[in-house]
Amino acid sequence: MALVNSKKMFEMAYKNGYAIGAFNVNNMEIVQGITEACKEENAPVILQVSKGARAYANHTYLVKLVEAAVKECPEIPIVLHLDHGPDFETCKACIDGGFTSVMIDGSHLPFEENIALTKKVVDYAHERGVTVEGELGTLAGIEDDVKVEHGAESYTKPEEVIEFVTRTGVDSLAIAIGTSHGAYKFKPEQCTRNEQGILVPPALRFDILEEVSKKLPGFPIVLHGSSSVPQDYVKMVNENGGKMPDAIGVPEEQLRKAAALSVCKINIDSDLRLAMTGTIRQFFNEKPDKFDPREYLKPARANIKEIVRHKLKNVLGCAGKADECK
Ligand code: G3H
Ligand code: 13P
Ligand code: ZN
Repeated sequence: MALVNSKKMFEMAYKNGYAIGAFNVNNMEIVQGITEACKEENAPVILQVSKGARAYANHTYLVKLVEAAVKECPEIPIVLHLDHGPDFETCKACIDGGFTSVMIDGSHLPFEENIALTKKVVDYAHERGVTVEGELGTLAGIEDDVKVEHGAESYTKPEEVIEFVTRTGVDSLAIAIGTSHGAYKFKPEQCTRNEQGILVPPALRFDILEEVSKKLPGFPIVLHGSSSVPQDYVKMVNENGGKMPDAIGVPEEQLRKAAALSVCKINIDSDLRLAMTGTIRQFFNEKPDKFDPREYLKPARANIKEIVRHKLKNVLGCAGKADECK
């Protein structure tokens, strides 16, 4: 089947208590690892491309890689989504250039300006059958070249969501409930430590999620910054020359709980980066004489595939749901 927008996926995800995985793609091995797992698990999927990915790999290459995945996986629905669209022009370029969904990220703007920008994108996108994600509230961490320090983030205000959604016409809304981008989601001071000395993060603000959902019944909510930063991959990185002390993510049980509520899209990038980097570091450490990129990219791709499979089955709950999302 051809690329689809996110409408049907979110409708079914909301109704049946699961979330669609939105995985960031930057090159062929990442596209292949993700989509091979989704094909084998019969899962719908969102492949998302950031401004940084477009700058790195080039819009046309990324679209063609995703088109190749669509051809190789005709039985699963795939969305091609712009992640953190920074302005109208980038959204327009992606809509005109084959994307089926875009995010316009006006979360850093004053409320009225966020509404005006988001509505402009929605008007353009909807005329072309493209779905739009907006955002209210700011996450800590790094998105492209914008860094929001811990402490400068702000939770979504539930009292703003009805007006934002009604006036903009967005199809989904990203909210801030304590997740953040990258591999250092919580400062050690925000956490406790268990008996093994491993950091235990504070809980997400499910109270905010519930208040938002009460105000917007049936409306799909999006969670950014939802990597769990698996400690076995952090260890693999650190034992093979890397330096990622106190890397920490969102516990998977909390994401599973969010997926069973109104969260229909869960964004995961850092976990795939960790799987790829840990695998390649270990490969080079164990086989310093090797220099054929295929030899180290092959296990990296295989581990991306396995971590995506784990997310589909055990975190998102969308394994086996491809058919109902068509
Ligand atoms: O939101 C951030 C995503 O992980 C994309 O990261 O801007 O480095 O491509 P990036
Ligand atoms: P992570 O850094 O937690 O993977 O978040 C990715 C994301 O939100 C992309 O928009
Ligand atoms: Zn994000």
